[in-house]
Amino acid sequence: MKKIALMTGGNSGEYEISLKTAENIYNMLDKSRYEPYLIHLRGNEWTYTTPEGEKVEVNRNDFSLTLHGEKVRFDAVFIAIHGNPGENGRLEGYFDMIGMPYTGCGMLSSALTFNKFYCNVVVRSLGIPVAPSLHYFKNDTVDPVRVNEVCGYPCFVKSCNSGSSVGVTKVHSEEELSPAVEEAFRYDNQLMVEKMVHGREMTCGVGMIHGEIRALAVTEVVSMREFYDYKSKYTDGQHDLITPADIPEETRALICQYAQTIFRELNCGGIVRVDFILTADGTPYFLEVNTIPGQTAMSIVPNQIRHIGLDLTDVYTDLIEQSFQRC
Ligand SMILES: Nc1ncnc2c1ncn2[C@@H]1O[C@H](COP(=O)(O)OP(=O)(O)O)[C@@H](O)[C@H]1O
Ligand SMILES: [Mg+2]
Repeated sequence: MKKIALMTGGNSGEYEISLKTAENIYNMLDKSRYEPYLIHLRGNEWTYTTPEGEKVEVNRNDFSLTLHGEKVRFDAVFIAIHGNPGENGRLEGYFDMIGMPYTGCGMLSSALTFNKFYCNVVVRSLGIPVAPSLHYFKNDTVDPVRVNEVCGYPCFVKSCNSGSSVGVTKVHSEEELSPAVEEAFRYDNQLMVEKMVHGREMTCGVGMIHGEIRALAVTEVVSMREFYDYKSKYTDGQHDLITPADIPEETRALICQYAQTIFRELNCGGIVRVDFILTADGTPYFLEVNTIPGQTAMSIVPNQIRHIGLDLTDVYTDLIEQSFQRC
């Protein structure tokens, strides 16, 4: 029986979602093969809670636990932390250093995709449509004239390293620009201003499944708010997820092809989710890659997996077994 550390928590606005993601993965893991240990990370505290309720610190020299005087070593780690430090390459780098197998994307893919601006640059170079954008660092002056020239209004101001729409503002006019810039810099020292793409929001799970890069399905995200902001994402009734999206077959195939190209070229691993805005003329504009997509019982990726007739437990087994091949 392999011991799997299922890492949950994290240091971002997506903490609560991560707990739910890990709970679902825990429930779905094949217990005849794996013995999962839920490891909770918050700030500098990395702990395991025993069935008796005792909190035990993880030894970070070798990522082990000492339980009842005995050392517990893990065979692999299942990373289920959204945002920092699970999705931005930090945990991946740590596990690389100590030689511990882990699921999902490696350090570089995680770090690259987590910076929305750098990711845009690479994805644009693959010939995939990406909206024009500008990149700024803290203390730079965001010139409204330049923003108007490149992006126009409305446009989106976003922290480069964030998620769940935290630090994302839709800016309708020049007056709204500087409060949006201030908001984005609360979360990161880099931001981007991106031209708004008018269209329907689509998202496509894609992963290395049974040895091939497979696009799962395309889901339309319908937001009841002005855009898919934090409230819309996490308040009941504020969004609808439609799987499969009601789009022409050729559009579906194009979105899947873009998602697969991004997965391969960015050297992703595990299962990621790629977001697009589909314009009325059928062009999917790339928005971002989520390398640790939500995997709660209600989330998009588990739904897409079920939709194409795969078994979630089998898919998780596959992801864990892949982690051994990489090491
Ligand atoms: N260029 C854009 N055009 C239209 N809508 C956008 C654009 N950028 C972001 N959005 C809206 O903002 C939401 C959050 O932006 P996104 O880049 O996906 O950041 P996050 O990582 O926080 O989800 C998107 O789901 C979409 O609704
Ligand atoms: Mg998003």
